[in-house]
Amino acid sequence: MIITVTLNPAIDKTLETDRLVSGGLNRIRNVHSDAGGKGINVSKTIRELGGESIATGFLGGESGKIISSALNKRGISNDFIWVGNETRTNTKVVEDDGTVTEFNEPGPVIAEEQIEQLLCKLSEWAGKNTLVVLSGSAPRGMDTYIYARIIRLLHERGAKVLLDADGELFSKSFSSRPDMMKPNRMELEQFAQYGHHASMEELLCSSREFRDAGTETVLISMGAEGALFARGAYEAFAPALPVQICSTVGAGDAMAAALAFAWEKKFGAEETFRLCMAVSAGAVMTNGTKPPDRGTVDRLMEKVSISRI
Ligand SMILES: Nc1ncnc2c1ncn2[C@@H]1O[C@H](COP(=O)(O)OP(=O)(O)OP(=O)(O)O)[C@@H](O)[C@H]1O
Ligand SMILES: [Mg+2]
Repeated sequence: MIITVTLNPAIDKTLETDRLVSGGLNRIRNVHSDAGGKGINVSKTIRELGGESIATGFLGGESGKIISSALNKRGISNDFIWVGNETRTNTKVVEDDGTVTEFNEPGPVIAEEQIEQLLCKLSEWAGKNTLVVLSGSAPRGMDTYIYARIIRLLHERGAKVLLDADGELFSKSFSSRPDMMKPNRMELEQFAQYGHHASMEELLCSSREFRDAGTETVLISMGAEGALFARGAYEAFAPALPVQICSTVGAGDAMAAALAFAWEKKFGAEETFRLCMAVSAGAVMTNGTKPPDRGTVDRLMEKVSISRI
């Protein structure tokens, strides 16, 4: 069973206009809304791949209901903790020349009692055959040790954890030894305090440190450069697939989803890496965070070229 946790979900609203006028009246041509947040994106991609997951986290108010019903419509099981305040809406304005202006709301403050309710729910699900995906930011005011706290609890119950977070949420979770992680190049460079564009050897060295500390699988994504995958004695690199780029937003979420899906299907290291490369490339070919369809993923799988290190 795969559980995705989204602590700070959002309705992602996209407005299309010919040109944004600051301080003037803007006529909107098209409005598109979708359920968003990193864990929710992971659940959407798993669904598209033919897998199942339960999406959880915090939802509130009318926006929360919209997100929950959008997930139900896609056949994604969801069981959130309901909070008193409204879930945020993140608005993107897209102009005809491709300029994107974003307005991100802070989202509700979550009380300790509600965090405990989430921990309680997670520990009921947690067991040997459970993988919990922790991805994305925490709501304002929440202790950045939250993921470390969740990881410890899940490990006590025998569950596995896949972590995809940045900044303090990442650095403070490291010592709790998530079982899998998918940092991107920048997140890793910040964590390891490289202060420069890290070389492949340096990235590999970091991946070994993570594994020495107890993380079984490390997948370092490097955008258009490709990715490094390490599990046990298997270390490999794959260049990004040369696909038609529509939007790179959410490519990392798609990669994390593939990693989780492959875990559930008990794929070996190379097959897992191949799927991760294909799904993330497929995600780049779609608009926004829309997941790629399974047919595209299957075609791309054949094109992935992996070199052992
Ligand atoms: N321009 C691109 N062309 C082909 N594949 C890409 C491109 N950008 C990203 N990818 C694929 O997606 C993977 C993940 O991308 P990236 O490293 O940008 O993740 P990320 O920064 O975590 O993204 P996000 O957090 O926005 O979802 C890459 O390793 C690669 O396989
Ligand atoms: Mg990412």
